[in-house]
Amino acid sequence: MIYTNTKDFPKSFLWGASTSAYQVEGAWNEDGKSPSIIDMCNHPEGTADFKIASDHYHRYKEDVKLFAEMGLKAYRFSIAWTRIIPYGVGEINEKGINFYNDLIDELIKNNIEPIVTMYHFDLPYVLEQKGGWGNRDTINAFLGYAKVLFERFGSKVKYWLTINEQNTMILHPGAIGTPKGSTLPSKKELYKQNHHMLLAQALTMKLCHEMCANGKIGPALNTTAMYQDTSNPDDAIAAHNWESIRCWNFLDVAVKGVYNPLAWSYLVDRKLAPTIQDGDMEILKNGKPDFVAINYYSTATIAASKNDASDVSARAGDQQIMLGEQGVYRATENPYVGKTKYGWVVDPVGLRMTLRKVYERYNLPILITENGIGAPDVLEEDDIVNDDYRIEYIKKHLEQLQLAITDGVDVMGYCPWSAIDVVSTHQGYGKRYGFIYVDRDEFDLKDLRRIKKKSFYWYKNVIVTNGSDL
Ligand code: BG6
Repeated sequence: MIYTNTKDFPKSFLWGASTSAYQVEGAWNEDGKSPSIIDMCNHPEGTADFKIASDHYHRYKEDVKLFAEMGLKAYRFSIAWTRIIPYGVGEINEKGINFYNDLIDELIKNNIEPIVTMYHFDLPYVLEQKGGWGNRDTINAFLGYAKVLFERFGSKVKYWLTINEQNTMILHPGAIGTPKGSTLPSKKELYKQNHHMLLAQALTMKLCHEMCANGKIGPALNTTAMYQDTSNPDDAIAAHNWESIRCWNFLDVAVKGVYNPLAWSYLVDRKLAPTIQDGDMEILKNGKPDFVAINYYSTATIAASKNDASDVSARAGDQQIMLGEQGVYRATENPYVGKTKYGWVVDPVGLRMTLRKVYERYNLPILITENGIGAPDVLEEDDIVNDDYRIEYIKKHLEQLQLAITDGVDVMGYCPWSAIDVVSTHQGYGKRYGFIYVDRDEFDLKDLRRIKKKSFYWYKNVIVTNGSDL
């Protein structure tokens, strides 16, 4: 659809940016924090670990000041469960509470709306040792943690995200890593974990509505549209399979409280379906989100399976390298889209497509909680970072976002990844996403100085003009 006029971004649009606790904070074992599964993982050789990260734990005031200077109206960050309840259940660590209270106060003081992710890949290691998400007790442990968050921060935080990219954790467990000495769980085990996370999420959404009068809560999945490779009807079925298994299987449960029927048939046929206990479906039905958050990076292009080993993609560890599965679908190349240096598809129009599909399917406001380009930014003389490619990437995505708004999609806000440089999930510190450069290398921590990139000034102007000057 080509419009004669595009709609403006809404006045209340949440212009934001994102990070996650373990990727930005550092201080991995300070002030009573216990290790999470991430702290106990092997890191790919040659890449930074998460122990110091961007040292935000010690520098959050300076960082928030920069966020305010950039004009951010919202900041999406995650709370580390391991700082709040180091043993996973029971005793509360007041030092952890204080850190997030101070951070939230600092944001509010600077007119920045806090958007809190409750869980971003970092399960307390003590719970992992008891079976992690495979153990049903973890549902109650999560609910106990959620209760503390709502009690302590519920009067100040309006927007909550339950679990970040549950679909990445289930479909690409290798991207998050596994604790030293353990192997990747089987698919059957992963779908059991998935069911437990879905139950925890539904109970948490209900609890949020009971405890926080103005609270708004939603899931935050990695959601992307797909294209079928050709007009061959078999490609169309395969692409539909992919979409149902990768996206709707997670979102349908979160929003409608039911498993996606196509994905469920696949799970049953492959003997991967989780055991549903009495009362589970009722719990899922009773958890109702107020909005849907999406992390969008890439689209997939999907062809019919050849039903042999060649269906399975080689780079299964990377969350945006699309997977194939024998007898289900295979991923193919799309000649109409670009790619980042790391092989991630760059497809701004795909964002519009994704927003249209999600909105039409669920009719809930959408918050974009991640989108961005990872690149090996270079710090030039006089503290200059010329990240024109980032400006280009975000500009093109915002143009498509505006078209989606014109299409009638209710988009609440845009929080690109990332507010400041952070450690990548599995590709170290060289792969940067931030508007603010952090002066450190993979292993040399240098002075961790903050430097505004070119994109910082550009995004500031976008925000100040409410998106009218992209
Ligand atoms: C998302 C995650 O999958 O992608 C983030 O929620 C992550 O935690 C982001 O950092 C970018 O991925 P990567 O692997 O390039 O860091």
